[in-house]
Amino acid sequence: MDAAPQTPLPRPLGLLAELTHRCPLACPYCSNPLRLDAREDELDTETWARVFREAAALGVLQVHLSGGEPAARRDIVELTAAAHDAGLYTNLITSGVGVASERFAALSDAGLDHVQVSIQDSEPESADRIAGYRGAFARKNALAAEVIRHGIPLTVNAVMHRANIDHIEAMVDLALALGAGRVEIAHVQYYGWALKNRDRLMPTREQVERAVATVEALRARHHGRIVIDAVVPDYYARLPKACVGGWGRRSLNVTPSGKVLPCHAAETIPGLVFWNVRAHSLADIWQNAPAFNAFRGEDWMQEPCRTCPKRGEDFGGCRCQALALTGDARAADPVCHLSPHHSRLAELVLEREDAAYDYRR
Ligand code: SF4
Ligand code: FES
Repeated sequence: MDAAPQTPLPRPLGLLAELTHRCPLACPYCSNPLRLDAREDELDTETWARVFREAAALGVLQVHLSGGEPAARRDIVELTAAAHDAGLYTNLITSGVGVASERFAALSDAGLDHVQVSIQDSEPESADRIAGYRGAFARKNALAAEVIRHGIPLTVNAVMHRANIDHIEAMVDLALALGAGRVEIAHVQYYGWALKNRDRLMPTREQVERAVATVEALRARHHGRIVIDAVVPDYYARLPKACVGGWGRRSLNVTPSGKVLPCHAAETIPGLVFWNVRAHSLADIWQNAPAFNAFRGEDWMQEPCRTCPKRGEDFGGCRCQALALTGDARAADPVCHLSPHHSRLAELVLEREDAAYDYRR
C-alpha cells in the first residue's frame, strides 16, 4: 500500500486529539473503534503537549480535544492550556457529562476557544435512552449554559438517525435556546459502533426526504440567528463526500495511545502501518508514515475514479466506507452513483430492525 509522497505535501490544518476512549455515555453510533484503548496505554500530559507543539509547527491551526469524553482525563485543563500555548485554536468536543462549572471555568481560563456538545434528542427521556446514560440531557443543558456564561462560542452536534430524525425542528429550537451559534445536523456515519447498529439506526427514505425539506425551511426561518449545517446522509446520496478533506491532505488523528491515523476509522483497513508519536515526530509521520502515503495522490485509484473529472474534488470518497461496503479500500466509495456497488446501498437501507441497540460499553 506504500506509495511515494506527493511533493510538495499539503499542510494539515486540523488535529483530532482523541485524548481517551473512556466515556460515561454509551451511544450506539459511537465512531470509536470496537476495541478501545485502555486507560493505562494513554499518552501522558507531556507527550500530548509535545504533539501540540509539533502540530502547530507543521501548520495545524485547530485542535479538536475529543475522545471518548475528553474531560475523563484528569489533566484536561493542563492539556487545553498546552494546546493554547502552542498557538492552536482549541475546540472541546464533549458529551457534557463530567464538566462541572468550576472545571469549566478553569478550562476557560486555560484558553478554551470553542465548545461542541452533542445532543441525542430534543426530549430528555429519549435523549438519555439513546445515550445509555440517565441524566445526560440535563447535564448537557447545564454545560451549555456555562459555555455561554463564559462567552465561548457553542456548536450543538445533533446526531440524527431513525429514532430522532423526525425531531430536527425541536433539536434546532433546543440549540437556539441553549445559545448555540451553529448546529450540525450530523447523520450517523456507519463506522465503528454505528456499523454494528446500522439496521437499528438507518432512517427510511421518507424520513430523509422530510428531513431535507425541514432543514431548508429552518434555514430560511432562522437565517442570521443560527448556522445550520447539514448534508444528505451517505447511503441516500449520489455523490460521495471528500472524506477528511482527502486522505493525508488536511488532518491527522492521534489515538489515546499515540497512533497517528489519517482518519478516525483508518484502523479498519487491513495492511496499513501506523506510526506512533512515542517513536516519531508528527512531521516525520505526516511525511513518511506508510499509512499516510497509502492513498495520497491518484496512483492507487481504480476505475471509475481513475479517469473521473471529479477525482480531484472528492478523492474517490471515503476509503473506510469503500472497504466496509465492497471489501476493497481502493474501490470508489459506493455512495457514488458511478460505483458498480452503488445499488447495494438501496438494499442496505431496507435492512431495518427494531431491536435494542448494541450499546458501546
Ligand atoms: Fe468521485 Fe470516483 Fe465517483 Fe468520480 S467516480 S465522482 S472520483 S467517487
Ligand atoms: Fe476513513 Fe473516510 S472514515 S477515509
